[in-house]
Amino acid sequence: MAIIMDGNGRWAKARGLPRAAGHRAGAEAARAAVRAAGEAGVECLTLYAFSSENWRRPASEINDLTALLRFYVKKEFESLHREGIRLKILGDHTAFEADVARLVDDAVARTSANERMTVAIALNYGARGELANAMRRLAADVAQGRLQPGDIDETRIEAALDTHDLPPLDLLIRTSGEQRLSNFLLWQAAYAELLFIETLWPDFDGDSMRAALHEFARRERRYGGL
Ligand code: FPP
Repeated sequence: MAIIMDGNGRWAKARGLPRAAGHRAGAEAARAAVRAAGEAGVECLTLYAFSSENWRRPASEINDLTALLRFYVKKEFESLHREGIRLKILGDHTAFEADVARLVDDAVARTSANERMTVAIALNYGARGELANAMRRLAADVAQGRLQPGDIDETRIEAALDTHDLPPLDLLIRTSGEQRLSNFLLWQAAYAELLFIETLWPDFDGDSMRAALHEFARRERRYGGL
C-alpha cells in the first residue's frame, strides 16, 4: 500500500502553529503508520515524503523537512532494523544534503536483507521522472544492441522502474480530502484501489490504518474482467 501524506500545513494552521510543527506531527504519524501496517501484515508501505515538485516550497520549509528526515533516519533506524524492516528509497535522494544522503544510503544498505516488511520512502520522487528514467534506460539498452524495440513490454518497463522490487500496489490512500495523485506512482496505480479520506495526515493513527484496510477488504476488484 502507499500513502500520500497530505494536510500537515492545514493541521498546523488550525492550531495556530508554524507549518514545521505540522511536519513534525506528520513524521510521528508516519512512524505510527509503519507500526500499524506491520501489525496488520502489510508487506510493503510506500510513503510520499517529498516530491520532485516540493523544491518549489520556501527554503525554510525544505530545511525543516530535511532536518526531520535526518532526525528520523538516525533515530528510527535501529528499531526499523530490529523489527525486520527493509528500507527502500524511490526517487533521487542524492539531491538532499550530502550527510542526509549518506545516512539514507547507510540505512538502505544495512536493512537490505530484512524480510518482514518493506518501507519505501519517496524522496525527491515524481512518477513522470521515474518513467522518463526508465525509458532512458531501455533506450540505452536498445542503442547498445542489448534489447530489440519489439521486446519492450510491460514487464520490461516495470523492471526499469524504481519500484521493480516491490509487490504490486493494491491500495493508495490520500489524506486531507484532496482527490488527485500529484505525480505519485502513476504507472503502479493502474489497478490500485484509491481511498481518499478527510483526516489530515498528523491525525492518521492506528485506527485510521485499520479502517482503511477494512475498506480495502470490502472492495471488489475485477482488473477489467467481470
Ligand atoms: C503534505 O502536507 C506533506 C508533505 C509535503 C511532507 C510529508 C512529510 C511528512 C509527513 C514528514 C515526514 C517527512 C520526512 C522528510 C521524513 P502539506 O504541507 O502539503 O499540507 P497542506 O496541504 O495542509 O499545506
